[in-house]
Amino acid sequence: MAANFSACLVPVAVLALFYLVIFPNDLSQLKSALAPCDAASKSVAAAAAAADDDVDFRMFFGILTRPDFYERRALLRMAYALQPPPRRAAIDVRFVMCSLDKEEDAVLVALEIITHGDILVLNCTENMNDGKTYDYFSALPRLFPAGYYDFAGKIDDDTYYRLGALADTLRRKPRRDMYHGFLNPCHIDPAWQYMSGMGYIVSWDVAEWIAASPELRGREIGYEDDVFGRWLRGAGKGKNRFGEEPRMYDYLDREMYGADVNCFRHELIADTVAVHKLKDRLKWARTLRFFNATDGLKPSKMYHVDLTPRI
Ligand SMILES: *[C@@H]1O[C@H](CO)[C@@H](O)[C@H](O)[C@H]1NC(C)=O
Ligand SMILES: *[C@@H]1O[C@H](CO)[C@@H](O)[C@H](O)[C@H]1NC(C)=O
Repeated sequence: MAANFSACLVPVAVLALFYLVIFPNDLSQLKSALAPCDAASKSVAAAAAAADDDVDFRMFFGILTRPDFYERRALLRMAYALQPPPRRAAIDVRFVMCSLDKEEDAVLVALEIITHGDILVLNCTENMNDGKTYDYFSALPRLFPAGYYDFAGKIDDDTYYRLGALADTLRRKPRRDMYHGFLNPCHIDPAWQYMSGMGYIVSWDVAEWIAASPELRGREIGYEDDVFGRWLRGAGKGKNRFGEEPRMYDYLDREMYGADVNCFRHELIADTVAVHKLKDRLKWARTLRFFNATDGLKPSKMYHVDLTPRI
């Protein structure tokens, strides 16, 4: 009995500490991570997952960004906080960045972590196309117990997902060998397509395979997302591929000079899963208004806000 108790207590204490460090605000995760001690015979992870019979799947939604993109993170946090929570799905929106090399970033990001508890700092240096994708996916299985998450996403910080629509499309997808996103380049031989960098999602076994394959790191030069597609193709992984055209696309509006409708770009549509290329405040503003994020604004004597488009 005593042996059982301490064998249970040690991993739980480690796990609790881990959740307090990484997600200090997320008490529900801590609670479900603590639950397994009641079911001593089951593994920590399996019991944690089983305790959550109110969700169909769990996803780590990692938005890759840079330490100094404070305004973008503030916008994204607000945008996701104002969405109705997805039905029967736990999608943990987190920001992922490389090491905090500058003095101001170390302090200011530390304050964000204290305030929001939604940041993952990888051990890497900020440099596009230099193995960040490998570092990200390979870190996940080391950070979380097997079986806790079903899916892991790598999301661009100029992309806006509608989490409810995403959850509805993901819940029916296979939990193994799955690769979801926007097939790029569109309308070419599928053998050469990969998921666009706007955002892609794999099942957790794919992240585990990447973590167990250090030889992938630095093997190929090129755009990270193209390289990612080649890793999978080369190993026969991610065979359950789901392209979300036309529900994932690049932003387009009438004021954008020289940009036309094509297979990856069109105007906002109601049935959207994700919009990409939200490069400035006006594009974010128009997108968030289109999806009715401003509906929560209550009339008040304190302000008058005119939300009508000014084109
Ligand atoms: C980060 O990576 C570098 C280079 O691989 C290594 O020397 C260092 O110990 C790592 N730091 C941590 C905290 O893992
Ligand atoms: C936003 O709200 C309006 C009015 O209720 C509705 O007609 C429209 O379909 C909504 N837009 C989206 C994208 O859901």
